[in-house]
Amino acid sequence: MPGIVIVGAQWGDEGKGKITDLLADKATVIVRFQGGNNAGHTIVRGGEEFKFHLIPSGILHSKKACVIGNGVVVDPRVLLSEIDGLKRAGVSVGNLRLSANAHLIMPYHVLLDTAGETKLGKNSIGTTRRGIGPAYADKALRLGIRVQDLLDEKILRTKIRAALGPKQQALRELSVQRRKLRKEAGEDAKAAPEGVDVPDPRLDVHTMVEEHVSFGHRLEPHIADTARLCWDALDSGQTVIFEGAQAALLDLDHGTYPFVTSSNPIAGAATVGAGVGPADIDEVWGIAKAYATRVGAGPFPTELEDETGDRIVDAGHEFGTTTGRRRRAGWMDLVALRYAVRLNRMDALAITKLDVLSGIGPLRVAVRYRSKEGAVLDSFPYHQSILHSATPEYEELPGFDEDIGGCREAGDLPQAARDYLGFISEFVGIPVRLVGVGPDRDQVVWIDS
Ligand code: IMP
Repeated sequence: MPGIVIVGAQWGDEGKGKITDLLADKATVIVRFQGGNNAGHTIVRGGEEFKFHLIPSGILHSKKACVIGNGVVVDPRVLLSEIDGLKRAGVSVGNLRLSANAHLIMPYHVLLDTAGETKLGKNSIGTTRRGIGPAYADKALRLGIRVQDLLDEKILRTKIRAALGPKQQALRELSVQRRKLRKEAGEDAKAAPEGVDVPDPRLDVHTMVEEHVSFGHRLEPHIADTARLCWDALDSGQTVIFEGAQAALLDLDHGTYPFVTSSNPIAGAATVGAGVGPADIDEVWGIAKAYATRVGAGPFPTELEDETGDRIVDAGHEFGTTTGRRRRAGWMDLVALRYAVRLNRMDALAITKLDVLSGIGPLRVAVRYRSKEGAVLDSFPYHQSILHSATPEYEELPGFDEDIGGCREAGDLPQAARDYLGFISEFVGIPVRLVGVGPDRDQVVWIDS
């Protein structure tokens, strides 16, 4: 299968990295097509733990090309620190390619992300504060700085100046706010009087240009026409994996807007974010946890705010790779999952972290919602207010207590675990082909393949 897309089927953190890493065995190219360092995945290999935010999961395979596609927003500082970390661990990054057309997350994007969230107060989205939204906004406004601009100091300076212009007011407010906070904290006794701007050193154009030119020098060996690289692989029958970050319900268009990320993490976006056509996609895999989690604000119908939720969080180590935040946890939501399956036109599911549910039964899965007026909702509501007030209705299934970490074949799994998977598969209408039973790379069960 030459073109395989791997996407998150819930609210992110489903363990896409591990599945990508496994499927990458058969691929020549692994390409990320959206998001930025808001993502985070941990891969455990031979007991060693690797954490990535930007670099595609396939980097541990030395013979694969790992591509950061044009649809990704790249914080060059973060990318360089990941490259340095991998080098220190003795992992080669010679096969890493970075699209010249990818947009950059600049220091002002990070500041504006935080400022925006602070301004929203109790209505904040709970972003990762990595500058993702402001960077994509600048891309759409045609004020973005692209990777290729790092290689031309003159263009870089002009573009940074142009991008900063419309943000002056917001950035000024930010510097006044910061100065006030410092004063209140007793710091900065000699602060300039009220109303006088204190320039933030991170926003000094000269410093920013110098710094980014040096980033450009370091990244230059990796910068490439990555769409062409994908075409060449696909046209010669090699397998390309398109690795999504975040997930369907965080999709800017189809997720729980405004509590979403600023890109499209669904399969269709792989074409735009990597520069290939729909006919290049042969298979779509969705990754879902055996339960549900969400980080940040926004509707989460099956959320458990009780002891069972705490047990899932503890057993599943549900703390963000990127921000360390405690994730919200709940039962598997099959209404939302069936929506994600259709939205992505998935062919197969990988269900991760099934081992976490051991001892937590009986297990519940949401099979419909009920609106506050009492209407039965069999499909995922498109209207925000309905979703916010919908309550899930559950089917209860027997749980299992065995430690399943050592299972390697479907027949090794307890009957209740198999029935649980069977129920999910039947409900959403596609097969479960892979099941995660523990954090290590080999702790998986392949089904019928
Ligand atoms: P942003 O992508 O940083 O703008 O954050 C927007 C929303 O998406 C917030 O609710 C984040 O918690 C969520 N989000 C972004 N990236 C991830 C991820 O990789 N996993 C889970 N949630 C994420």
